[in-house]
Amino acid sequence: MKITMIGTGYVGLTSGVCYSEMGHTVICADIDEEKIDQLKSNECPIYEPGLKELIIKNSSKGNLSFTTDIDEAVKLADIVMIAVGTPSLPDGSVDMFYVEEVARKIGKSINNYKIIVNKSTVPVGSADKVRHIIQSCTNIPFDVASVPEFLREGSAVNDILNGERIVIGVDSENAKDVLINTHAPFNIPIQVTDIRSAELIKYAANSFLAMKISFINEIANLAEKVGADVLEVAKGIGSDSRIGNKFLNAGIGFGGACFPKDTLGLISIAEQVGHDFAIMKEVVEVNKKQFYKVIEKLQSVYPKLSGKTVSILGLSFKPNTNDLREAPSIKIINELYNITNGHIHIKVYDPISMEEASNQLPSSVDYCHSVKDAVRDTDVAVIVTEWKEIIEQDWNSLASLMKKPVIIDGRNCLGLMHDESVTYLGIGRKKDKVKIVN
Ligand code: UGA
Repeated sequence: MKITMIGTGYVGLTSGVCYSEMGHTVICADIDEEKIDQLKSNECPIYEPGLKELIIKNSSKGNLSFTTDIDEAVKLADIVMIAVGTPSLPDGSVDMFYVEEVARKIGKSINNYKIIVNKSTVPVGSADKVRHIIQSCTNIPFDVASVPEFLREGSAVNDILNGERIVIGVDSENAKDVLINTHAPFNIPIQVTDIRSAELIKYAANSFLAMKISFINEIANLAEKVGADVLEVAKGIGSDSRIGNKFLNAGIGFGGACFPKDTLGLISIAEQVGHDFAIMKEVVEVNKKQFYKVIEKLQSVYPKLSGKTVSILGLSFKPNTNDLREAPSIKIINELYNITNGHIHIKVYDPISMEEASNQLPSSVDYCHSVKDAVRDTDVAVIVTEWKEIIEQDWNSLASLMKKPVIIDGRNCLGLMHDESVTYLGIGRKKDKVKIVN
């Protein structure tokens, strides 16, 4: 199949590259000339393990190319996929501006029958919107479909190539047959459904996972009050296969480009049809407050934080990405500056996100070359992102470099042994004196 992917963000680029890996001829199109130039010279604009290798491999085989000429790219395609951004508007609803722009461009460029697929995370009813826009520009027949993407940042290539399901939302037999054949090489179970259900599946999946996280975070907050350990509770409930043990890691809340946006998106979709999705509103509220647990724990050790040195370890919203969108690190650092009127020394370390973070953080933040540099002479070390490099440190010797050996583990990622050496505060765990046993 000849596939044109419009939009080379996370979803568009990774899925476009993976379609080419499956033997399709893929053109990735974007209006961002700099990005397309980078891709043409085999540079990968995002940090994503395995992606660069696949770009080089499939570009050199001739089944992957990059262009800013969207008109030509649409004309050459059997299937046009829309994978442009759908940011949140201030009221939480989804901004469809870019999707609608692309639909208009497709409508102007379409030259023969094509299937137009929404890959972007778009509200229920968006495929119909795209259809109307294209129909207002042309009489050429086409079908619309929804094939949502379930990839995670940091494991995107693997998630696409070894996913658990492919959802295809269609309303025509031809689109159904073509899209089933297009996805057959992935060898992943395919669920064919109607378009609106496919659109809702994407929001429901992300919102359910976000709900699991907010739920376990609330259990963690409760565990601290009743003297229980959230790790034990998560293990106990997670071994019931009806609950499942994934996405039960309590911490300082979910971030990134998806869960925060999609939970608000689902609330807004519901509101537009007069449905009050109260449970999702609580999921969002719990998450808004969860980063503050770090501040409370800091204050429980040092009631006056002014004049203290705090090390923040990990800045990206999760490991294996340089993405800082909705990252708890930014909220924590800004709040620390806020409550101390800037009278605080913040040292940070992240394997790859420091340069990007410097645009968003106060100018006096101290960027360190290593975890060791970051914790030297500090009053407290806060683990915000569970990078392997951070977990696998010799934490007992790091503790000896600190002014006082106090560790706040915002991701419950360190292994512990009861000992008198380190003051350890996890999330949903008892405050303890421990030895780290990673
Ligand atoms: C998420 C979904 O997992 C993907 O399936 C989906 O395709 C994607 O959104 C999307 O819509 O594009 P992603 O945002 O990349 O993927 O990251 P996740 O690995 O799901 O983590 C999201 C957030 O939840 C992170 O901040 C992570 O730290 C947090 N999290 C995750 C927890 O706090 N606890 C957990 O147990 C799991």
